[in-house]
Amino acid sequence: MAYKVFVYGARKAFPAAGLAVGTRLPFDVFINEGNVFTKAYSPGKEFGPEDRRDLLRRGVKEVYVDARDTLELETYLRRTSEEAPADPEDPATVREYHGHKAQYYQVDRTFLTRGARVGFGIYRLRDLRLIPVVEVMEGATGIVPDGVSALEGDLVIRNEDIPLYKRYLDGLLDGAAGTGTPEEKEKIRAVVIKEKSKTIVKDLLEDPRSGENIRKGMKVVSDLTESILSNRNVLNDLISLSAYDQYTYTHSVNVAVLSTGIGIACGLPRAEVETLGVGALLHDVGKSSLPAEILNKPGKLTDREFEIIKRHVLEGARILRTHDSIAENSHQVVLQHHERLSGGGYPNRLSGSDITTFGRICAIADCYDAMTTHRPYSRAGTPFNALSWMRGEEENYDGDLLATFIRMLGRIQAPAPSRVPQESVRPGP
Ligand SMILES: [Fe+2]
Repeated sequence: MAYKVFVYGARKAFPAAGLAVGTRLPFDVFINEGNVFTKAYSPGKEFGPEDRRDLLRRGVKEVYVDARDTLELETYLRRTSEEAPADPEDPATVREYHGHKAQYYQVDRTFLTRGARVGFGIYRLRDLRLIPVVEVMEGATGIVPDGVSALEGDLVIRNEDIPLYKRYLDGLLDGAAGTGTPEEKEKIRAVVIKEKSKTIVKDLLEDPRSGENIRKGMKVVSDLTESILSNRNVLNDLISLSAYDQYTYTHSVNVAVLSTGIGIACGLPRAEVETLGVGALLHDVGKSSLPAEILNKPGKLTDREFEIIKRHVLEGARILRTHDSIAENSHQVVLQHHERLSGGGYPNRLSGSDITTFGRICAIADCYDAMTTHRPYSRAGTPFNALSWMRGEEENYDGDLLATFIRMLGRIQAPAPSRVPQESVRPGP
């Protein structure tokens, strides 16, 4: 939406809705209360959801800047307007985007059906920008509107609201316990487990040295394996194809689900499946030691940045060594997930039989998930495109395991074309 600016003497007025959540304000913002202008925000202030709620509560429809800041205001409104393409090279936009990634948490839209009551605000992160979807006053609830599932971008909530979200998921589980077929209940249970797993993996990535976090991570793998073994159909529901951006916690859970699925499809005994799953869940744990600006860089990585990203493998192995509870075979998954059969991978340029089955499985799962996830300014490939590309790389990926993987995915329905464009891309690091 484009916002008009009106002149009031030495002040310029514009609609309060023009203040975009998650942006840093470059000017003083005033409010007119009984014909007295009071300063509401100073330059550098990050305009948050609570500020927006506060303005709504106070019925403030218009806000003002000093006339000297007109140019600044116009630039700000142009930059934050929903229709204007966000510029991945603009430092202010990128800074805000990094803030969004750090302060907001990606949720699964499956659970946000029309009419559902939520006690937390929901936002949409699209092309580096944060757009409110459901706004909720402190202590109140909001209602999920129609069409949320079709919105472009990722749905996110504030990190502080994660406990409320978990409670919401528990409510869904309780609700499902009373109604629905056993199959539906199993499906909801499995997807709730996965969604809660993401919160555990998020904590784990923030503090991978905590034994408690590792223990919870192992429990996640055990629960997911149990779910898949008890009903193979839930695998379909656990494999999500809707992410618009890379979140290491979501990616880690996806790779664990896919690797576990391949392990089961190969007929591995349960204990081995779990060892594989733990390694897969932790495969990118070393990314927790890398600078967020490089990890979440929306544009293309430079060669130097790519070299830094590559360090996550050895960094991950180092973290794993601090935990005696993690099996040696899980370490191999972390160490080898970027090795390629041709010897062209990293960090040790292993080739052929030097790469373990676990390493090969995780390489397939990792590449597939990366290729089917959007990134800002780089569209995701369809499952078909991703698999075709990997099949063309037979010197790099184990052909038998890939065939097993393709058979396993064969039962998964294709996503709606509008959500995942037909365009092929190469995997990221
Ligand atoms: Fe990786």
